[in-house]
Amino acid sequence: MKQNLNFDWKYKDTFNPDYISHGIKDGVSIDIPHTVKEVPYNYFNEKDYQIISSYEKVFDMEDDIVDKVIILRFDAFMLKARIYLNEEMLGFYQSGYVPVEIDVTGIVKQKGNRLLVVLDSSEDPDIPPFGYAVDYLTFSGIYREVSISTHPKTYIKDIFVYGDMSGNIKVSFTKVGDSKSFDFKNELYDMDGNLVSTFRGEENIKSPHLWSVDDPYLYTVKTIITSGDGTETYVTRTGFRSIKFTTTGFYLNDKKLKLRGLNRHQSYPIMGYAASKSLQEDDANLLKNMIGVNVVRTSHYPQSEHFLNRCDELGLLVINEIPGWQHIGESKKWREAYLEDVRLMVINERNHPCLIAHGVRIDESQDDHALYSEGNKLAHELDPYRPTIGVRNFTDSELLEDIYGYNDFSNWQFDSIGLMNPNKVKGAKNKPYLVTEYLGHMGPTKPTSDQFLKTDHCLRHLRVINDSNKYDRTCGAIGWCFSDYHTHADFGTGDHICPHGVLDINRNPKHAYAAYASQQDKFPVMEVISNMKPGELSGAIFSDIYVVTNCDYVELYKNDEFIGKFYPNTQKLFPNLEHPPILIDDIVGPTFKEDKIPEKYWKKIAKCYSYAAIHGFDNITFKMKVFLGFIMSRYKISYAQLVAWWNKYVGSWGGIAKFYKFIGYKDGKEVKQAVLGPSKTFRLEVKQSKLVLENKETYDSSRISLRYLDTNGELMQYASKVVHIEVSGPIRLVGDNYQSLLGGQLSIYINSLNKKGTGKIKITLEDIVKEIQIEVR
Ligand code: GAL
Repeated sequence: MKQNLNFDWKYKDTFNPDYISHGIKDGVSIDIPHTVKEVPYNYFNEKDYQIISSYEKVFDMEDDIVDKVIILRFDAFMLKARIYLNEEMLGFYQSGYVPVEIDVTGIVKQKGNRLLVVLDSSEDPDIPPFGYAVDYLTFSGIYREVSISTHPKTYIKDIFVYGDMSGNIKVSFTKVGDSKSFDFKNELYDMDGNLVSTFRGEENIKSPHLWSVDDPYLYTVKTIITSGDGTETYVTRTGFRSIKFTTTGFYLNDKKLKLRGLNRHQSYPIMGYAASKSLQEDDANLLKNMIGVNVVRTSHYPQSEHFLNRCDELGLLVINEIPGWQHIGESKKWREAYLEDVRLMVINERNHPCLIAHGVRIDESQDDHALYSEGNKLAHELDPYRPTIGVRNFTDSELLEDIYGYNDFSNWQFDSIGLMNPNKVKGAKNKPYLVTEYLGHMGPTKPTSDQFLKTDHCLRHLRVINDSNKYDRTCGAIGWCFSDYHTHADFGTGDHICPHGVLDINRNPKHAYAAYASQQDKFPVMEVISNMKPGELSGAIFSDIYVVTNCDYVELYKNDEFIGKFYPNTQKLFPNLEHPPILIDDIVGPTFKEDKIPEKYWKKIAKCYSYAAIHGFDNITFKMKVFLGFIMSRYKISYAQLVAWWNKYVGSWGGIAKFYKFIGYKDGKEVKQAVLGPSKTFRLEVKQSKLVLENKETYDSSRISLRYLDTNGELMQYASKVVHIEVSGPIRLVGDNYQSLLGGQLSIYINSLNKKGTGKIKITLEDIVKEIQIEVR
């Protein structure tokens, strides 16, 4: 029986030997997941949280412990700990990103146990990923859950359930204990709880309901053991599906699927790594349901079980990876830790149907025949069904894994090549090939960056997706990255943030999210990625107006007057995209009406103005110049008049600003609308990931996204206003009461306290007041 130990710990940001016998006297009460120090959103010193701290938990055992084996489990802490139970030192342990399990049989008492964890969160060069520069912060604390479980003296561990598309299912495990009589059976249940089959180790299920990205059907296996020491039941979720990486692509259940995805880091503002289950799930939801990708790489370390569980439920494929970043340590300790990471990652993650490959090579490290031969062998022994992958940033390397992963940063500008021709990647010859990263530092884009950068960022992602589709040889491409993330001073923009996400660090969108979302057909997407504000544009020239969308066509209105209907027309630039963006080349259209000139010329003049709006008046074509010259002389139109019309119809510098309304249509129906224009009145959009928080294994969280919009719904992308947040009831606000918008957006995070009731949140931004109630159950 599993007992959670997450609520009501005592915490102190130091260690005193007196704590071992007398407990922490002057600590604060905290719940797990916990970070030893909340950090500001940016500009802080990472040494602040690399401290030695103490955690204490007093608890009684809920289950009878007589004749039982008792295992204490930490899902993860950063980084090393000395652990005491009832004043007895259990030992030194290191975790980082993998669980630590300790047999505490004989030390744990039925009642009045006192657990003390002395945690060292400093970066240790003898433990991966440390030893050199690392482009991510690793934060601190007991940041994943803690539990203690009781088992009969003979029990099983490391259960491995694997099902394939032919209905074969196999269950294996390691038996611990020496009871002479030992038996077991497995029961397979479908999603409605119906018993499908009872078997021992292996079975073939006729026509199983397959797991896939569109229909992630899950089964449950109950493994029931009986021995002279008692019985126990273990529950494992599984799915029936087959995966194949080949030299002509990736196949799921024998159907080819181009992998299109993003890399994810697990850090959050303020709380660092200490994000609860629902925030982990929230990221998976965003990847699948907002960004619409089919794969995520857990770069560069094993991530939360809650994240993987949600990927199983959503049908989001996962490639995992052991902790590391470019550097291979030389010490024996480092190398042993690498192997232990491989071992624990594979054992802990191999039951997830979403998992399609094990990343067993340190991201972008050099070849190391001895180390990586061992790592690969170990992964294959522990999971013979899944391929291994190794990620490089060079094209010619010894391939010990099954898949050559390559970080292809060839894309320089959006109209340059998106990806390198896979045939040029020598090391991948005759082997499955996957692009595991692209863009990132090629296109850093802050949520506060100017419009050009944001537009360029989105187009470049599209360019790479286009090339990934082009090459049959590649199994797909996984972009850098899902959201902005915290990093060391050696990277990022000097503020400890790498602005490489298609979402910002608070999981609010940048335009680039639409590069992915527009390539799927489950939900409509229409993102106008060009600014319609002349004051931001050099020379007040509009430049190309792109609408990134999966709509069939878009209608444009200017101040409610119809301009035109525009269809996807960038096939030349993006020949391999399912939904190439729409480039709007006319913003004047039929609105031009001037009696001084015969009607038959209006359309042609409108065309000249539209062209000039995007390319500049000086750059209109020779033909246009001749035509306008003819109009001027034939109808006595002065240059000043031409300029006045320019201001009237295009509305650039010196003109009155216009409203532009874009309407997206799919199957003849309006599905999306965007109005961009001068903003006078404002509102705060508030969307929360959850309104009901449930205290189960531990506290629960809601991410509340705040977006400062005008009344037409346009994001006020330069708003940096301060928001005041007050909370009352059984909830806690993560961070300060005053937080500021970042490029017009912000997310605040609410955690439940260990009480039931109604929590109230009051959000004030100037004269806007929003109130939300959150139920805690
Ligand atoms: C890669 C690396 C990533 C990240 C990215 C930034 O080389 O694997 O972790 O640093 O560059 O573009």
